[in-house]
Amino acid sequence: MHADAERILFSEEEIKNAVKALGKRITEDYMDEPPIIVGILKGSFIFMSDLVREIGLNCDIDFMIAKSYGSATVSSGTVNIVKDLDTDISGRHVLIVEDILDTARTLTAVKDLLMDRSAKSVKIAALLDKVTAERVSDLKADYRCFEVGNEFVVGYGLDFAEKYRGLKYICVLRPEIYEH
Ligand code: IMP
Repeated sequence: MHADAERILFSEEEIKNAVKALGKRITEDYMDEPPIIVGILKGSFIFMSDLVREIGLNCDIDFMIAKSYGSATVSSGTVNIVKDLDTDISGRHVLIVEDILDTARTLTAVKDLLMDRSAKSVKIAALLDKVTAERVSDLKADYRCFEVGNEFVVGYGLDFAEKYRGLKYICVLRPEIYEH
């Protein structure tokens, strides 16, 4: 375990099994019409790369970078699209892949934006779902691997100040790491 980690929440093996199971579900659900899979960078990059290899369909892949700002209580309109899609999504199923659903501020805005572009459907696959977090909307993850409590987690793509993304497990950091 990394010296900065306090406790491991999900091991490499648990993540592998959960991603595999999720890939199977998505494969079954989209069998008739493969979706465009949209990864929200940067946090989703490891989850996305593992997940697409567990989806047995010929999916298009695209990425977005979206930065949300403003108060925690408003959502749409307060998102800045730093990198937009290269793909025309009109009439297509879209599956957004996100690392963690917290307030849902970013994804609420992104989902609205993609719906406005006449996507056939827009669904969300989140690696982690902070179920007790205060949400800015009623947006929910259509698919998720794990639930987490209201604590800050890192690893498997998730960072603290751009660090720890490469950890193979998901963990909670020691409090003193945040304190300076
Ligand atoms: P939301 O818009 O509040 O749902 O924020 C989602 C984004 O905040 C995620 O995509 C992460 O980049 C970041 N985030 C929220 N909680 C955590 C955490 O516990 N660890 C690392 N990043 C987090």
